[in-house]
Amino acid sequence: MAKNPYQKPDRFAQKAKEEGYAARSVYKLAEIDQRVRILKRGQRVVDLGCSPGSWSAYVLERGCKLVGVDLTETNLPGGTFLIRSVFDVTSDELRTALGGPADVVLSDMAPLTTGARDADHFAQIELATRAFDVACDLLAPGGAFICKVFEGPDAKAFELAVRKRFDGVRRVRPEAVRQNSREWFLVAEHFQ
Ligand SMILES: C[S@@+](CC[C@H](N)C(=O)[O-])C[C@H]1O[C@@H](n2cnc3c(N)ncnc32)[C@H](O)[C@@H]1O
Repeated sequence: MAKNPYQKPDRFAQKAKEEGYAARSVYKLAEIDQRVRILKRGQRVVDLGCSPGSWSAYVLERGCKLVGVDLTETNLPGGTFLIRSVFDVTSDELRTALGGPADVVLSDMAPLTTGARDADHFAQIELATRAFDVACDLLAPGGAFICKVFEGPDAKAFELAVRKRFDGVRRVRPEAVRQNSREWFLVAEHFQ
C-alpha cells in the first residue's frame, strides 16, 4: 500500500502526544501566537473548525473564553462547542454563546481533500471566506483574525479582501506545516 505522508509521525506529532494535545496542529497556532502575541487572558475567542480540539485547548490554557464550531464533536472541558457547519451557525448565536463581541476569530477549517489541487483550494477558500464573514460580523474593533489558507488561484483575492478590513495583515507559514503542504495562515490584526 502506498504510504500517506500525512500519516507519517513526525516530531510535532510525537510532541503533541507527549503533551496531551489532540493534534499536532497546536504547534502552528502556538508559533503564530509566540510571534504575534494575539491571545490574552480574558479574551473572547471563536475557533471555527475546532475538532479534534488542539487549538481550543491552547486557547483555553491562555485563560480565554472559547466557543468552538465544527461538523464533528470536540471533547474538551471548559469551552462551549457547537456541532454545526460554519455555514449554518449564525453570528447572533455565536455572540450570545460568547457573551459579547469576539476579540479573536480563528479558522483552521479545511475540507476533506481529494488530491485535486484546484478543487481542494476552491473548497478551502469557500470555508476561509465564510470564516472572514463571521469575523467581520463578530469582532470588536481592534480584534484579530487568524485563518488557514490553501494556496491557489483565489488566495491573493482573499488576502486583499481581508487587508481592506484589518490594519495589519501578514502571511505566516509555521514550522509545523508539513513541507509538502500548500497551506499558510493569514494573521490579521486591528480590525477596523
Ligand atoms: C485541520 S482540522 C482542525 C484542527 C483543529 N484546529 C485542532 O487543532 O484540533 C479542520 C477541521 O475543519 C472542519 N470543517 C470542515 N468543514 C467545516 C464546516 N463546513 N463547518 C465547520 N467545520 C468544518 C473539519 O471537520 C475539521 O475538524
